[in-house]
Amino acid sequence: MSGALLQLTGVGLAFAGNRVLDEVDFAVPERGIVSLIGPNGAGKTSLFNCITGFYRPHVGAITFGGHDLRRLKPHRITAAGIARTFQNLRLFREMSVPENVMSGMHCRTHAGAFGAIFRPPRQRAEEAEIRATAAECLRFVDIAGDWNRVATTLPYGHQRRVEIARALATRPRLLLLDEPAAGLHGGEKQELIALINRIRDERGIAVLLIEHDTGLVMKVSERISVLDHGVMIAEGTAKEIQANPRVIEAYLGQEDAGADLEL
Ligand SMILES: Nc1ncnc2c1ncn2[C@@H]1O[C@H](COP(=O)(O)OP(=O)(O)O)[C@@H](O)[C@H]1O
Ligand SMILES: [Mg+2]
Repeated sequence: MSGALLQLTGVGLAFAGNRVLDEVDFAVPERGIVSLIGPNGAGKTSLFNCITGFYRPHVGAITFGGHDLRRLKPHRITAAGIARTFQNLRLFREMSVPENVMSGMHCRTHAGAFGAIFRPPRQRAEEAEIRATAAECLRFVDIAGDWNRVATTLPYGHQRRVEIARALATRPRLLLLDEPAAGLHGGEKQELIALINRIRDERGIAVLLIEHDTGLVMKVSERISVLDHGVMIAEGTAKEIQANPRVIEAYLGQEDAGADLEL
């Protein structure tokens, strides 16, 4: 896809000779909502880790807004406009909800140790701005009422939203969500679909979603890519993916397959 916001070309990743990603081509358009699905162990989270600089592909190109990401450190990639949430929640224990959200914003601030101790006026202005951004992001994900809570004591669905708020606070152009519906009940899943749409519609942020709940994926995605054993086996609309024999076959080995894909 030429002119895509995010573009992976021929990406390969291996650990101790085990191939995890094999010549992966993949793109996310500006303001797109795209999902990445595939059986457990397919390499989905590893692909996120390559995009965000946690893993280094041994071959292939990754560009974001036309810029090469491969040699950038993770915090530089965040600053370039890519934010993520994690498959397993990574909230800081003992920290309040807003502190957790603010912890994601270092990439956009200038405060160093000196400023943190002596707090000159510029520093204080920046702190106020950071708090305002955190408050605004918590309102956006609809948990402003949790401001005074310790994040890890919140109900699970709210903890997931704190993570999304923390990602949004970095002002991304692309948001990566790794299994955001895991552990959510039906009503919360509907709210998540609405939130993903608002993130794109109101903020203009492209969303790349890894998700096991294929019903949710089919509802929210404009395009879907399917990864199986590190290989991209299909790309298309929900309708195309559901009818694709290679996709059906890839899922048949999984115990929860048929129901999951809603065949
Ligand atoms: N840091 C790592 N070291 C060794 N193997 C890894 C590492 N990260 C991922 N893998 C392997 O890569 C494969 C894909 O894992 P993962 O990307 O987590 O899959 P998915 O998210 O699709 O379930 C698995 O076989 C996993 O064991
Ligand atoms: Mg995973």
